[in-house]
Amino acid sequence: MTVQNGMSLVEPDDAKLIASSITLPNGVVVQNRLVKAAMAEGIGLGGGPPQSGHLNLYRRWAQGGWGIIISGNVQIDPGHLASPHDLTLLPTPQCLKAYSALAKIVHAASASPPILLMQISHPGLQSSSTINLSRLPWQAAIAPCSARPDMNGGTMGWIWGHVIWPTKSRKIVNAVEWLDIVKKFVDAAVLAEKAGWDGVQIHSAHGYLLAEYLSPLTNPDPVSLPGVPDHIPIRLHLLYLILRGIHDNTDRKFVISVKINCSDFAQGGLDESQATEIVKSLVSWSLLDIIEISGGTYTHPAFAAPETLSSPSKRQSLFAHFTTSLLPFLSSPPDGPAIILTGGLHDRELIASSLREKACDLAGIGRPACLIPDLPNEIILNQDIVDKDARIGGYSIPGSELMRSLLGGGGGSNSTKQGVPLIGAGVSTLWHEWQLCRLGRGEEPDWDMHWLRGLMVEEVWWEVFRGGPGGWWRAWRG
Ligand SMILES: Cc1cc2nc3c(=O)[nH]c(=O)nc-3n(C[C@H](O)[C@H](O)[C@H](O)COP(=O)(O)O)c2cc1C
Repeated sequence: MTVQNGMSLVEPDDAKLIASSITLPNGVVVQNRLVKAAMAEGIGLGGGPPQSGHLNLYRRWAQGGWGIIISGNVQIDPGHLASPHDLTLLPTPQCLKAYSALAKIVHAASASPPILLMQISHPGLQSSSTINLSRLPWQAAIAPCSARPDMNGGTMGWIWGHVIWPTKSRKIVNAVEWLDIVKKFVDAAVLAEKAGWDGVQIHSAHGYLLAEYLSPLTNPDPVSLPGVPDHIPIRLHLLYLILRGIHDNTDRKFVISVKINCSDFAQGGLDESQATEIVKSLVSWSLLDIIEISGGTYTHPAFAAPETLSSPSKRQSLFAHFTTSLLPFLSSPPDGPAIILTGGLHDRELIASSLREKACDLAGIGRPACLIPDLPNEIILNQDIVDKDARIGGYSIPGSELMRSLLGGGGGSNSTKQGVPLIGAGVSTLWHEWQLCRLGRGEEPDWDMHWLRGLMVEEVWWEVFRGGPGGWWRAWRG
């Protein structure tokens, strides 16, 4: 119960609060507060547009009651992938057809379809030439600096760092190359709109190229770019041009969103006070409908904190302390952008209290959506389930501790054993992607899937060998 002007008001119960709609600055109405966060689907190899597996997966999500569905990262440059399974987007008829088919499926899947956003992205210096095979091994990634991600020191860190990134990134030094990147982002957004998507999310978090531009660690001397008003800080020039370009070249109803770190969690990297100033600037431009808050990079993958998998009692989501102190300074939607908070929001009570305490306007949910694609309808908004039971509950990945230890990823959340954080996070991410591959084949997720079984069956047999001759035939037929 809250008291306002001397009158007591009964607050809506948790499920009703989460089920309430919200209007974005561009007038688009989101039917509830649940967002399927961006997750690389892990389906298919070597880049390219969505395949039948993607269509099946997105149909399941679209029938699940989500307010917004954000795609996995779609790379704007096929030479720079974040994983060998990444989707790419190019201005070709084939791409337009495939992305249109996906949008149609999502919009037709239910009477009240979700808003569908495409996460457009460039991994910057974190793109590996050896794992993704999207360019020759000696061809460098690009970034505002010449570096390779720090794999946390130690012998294992050194070995992994040099295997994944045989060369340091090439530093982009001239404005023309940055402007070309701006163009690629804008073109991708325009194509997404043409393909019937409801909007885009610009990936400017997790140590990707745009986050590298924002970070003092990876961009100590930002390049000033032409065409930017004087009052915009140089560090924000790249993001400004991309947002301005998309805003000016798409319809007002096309949703524009950005995903940004509250901190890089790295010495010398973007910190919370800098992130606060960046968010305030972004809001002041009035170009955005949604801002999603996340945190971390490949070096410190805070967004993949393993605690959230196994501790349902944890009463704090990953970055709520940041948004709770930020939101009082921002206008609420529709006067300002809606804020998505993502990371650890895996139960109804926590989501509702985050909305009530103004930690967010929308709740982003990642990993649980791999195991329960219709999580909103099935659990969070399901009035037949009492609040205390409306949660995912703890689960652990069979064999993951062993694999983390063997691969040098440390001993898991409760261990004091140091390791390479990216490997630890990767073990969990891959397992969740394998669940998405199962959904893409029309199968149910397998909570008991041993990590090694996932590697052999999902990754090697289904993804690399496409499930044998039948799969080759289907792939050849398109
Ligand atoms: C399988 C998987 C793939 C992911 N891919 C992306 C991605 O493409 N883009 C992105 O911004 N975040 C990605 N993430 C991070 C999620 O969006 C989210 O920030 C993270 O999982 C924390 O939320 P959660 O605790 O609800 O899982 C991925 C996470 C997982 C588990």
